[in-house]
Amino acid sequence: MKVSAHLDFLPVSTDSASVVHSLYLNCPTYIALIGGDTPTLNDIQRELETLRHDTRRQALLLKHEDHVVGFLDYKVAYPDLHSATISLLLIDESLQGRGLGKAAVEQLETLLRGRMDRLYAVVYGNNEQAKRFWERVGFEHLRDSGPTLSWYLKPLK
Ligand code: ACO
Repeated sequence: MKVSAHLDFLPVSTDSASVVHSLYLNCPTYIALIGGDTPTLNDIQRELETLRHDTRRQALLLKHEDHVVGFLDYKVAYPDLHSATISLLLIDESLQGRGLGKAAVEQLETLLRGRMDRLYAVVYGNNEQAKRFWERVGFEHLRDSGPTLSWYLKPLK
């Protein structure tokens, strides 16, 4: 069932590690797809600590009706001063296909419009579902960097 969602964007802190970890555990298909091991809580803690030191990187918990439904990781002023780049949008697997991912992207676009001219999305691995999603929400395939990295672009002007 599709929802017309408004999401709350909450900055992730190192205290949020267990919430982010649970979200990953709830996305086994994605983890299998990118061919990695399921991250441990310690892996997530280290990742969030790394994020904290990069002031251009924004890691957000996505909340819908008081429940954490996803995670969004993007970087402003990257790869150039007038662009932002999404490196991961992750929606809880049990809630995928209901319009939450699209709502997250639309809200991010609204947030960035006027500050950034372009929004990129970088898809890692052989993630055909994600590629279809980015095209569906108005991004165009820009280029592949090697076999495992595909860049998508949406102008924000
Ligand atoms: N194939 C075709 N179309 C799709 C797919 C798919 N696999 N997934 C979504 N869409 C389409 C929907 O049909 C919908 O189109 P509509 O508006 O015409 O009905 C539109 O995309 C929006 O769909 P949502 O329901 O908003 O998508 P969802 O909430 O499932 O979020 C996401 C999509 C983020 C890819 C989610 O499925 C997910 O978390 N997947 C696992 C993690 C992942 O692969 N994330 C992306 C990594 S790449 C990156 O983040 C830069």
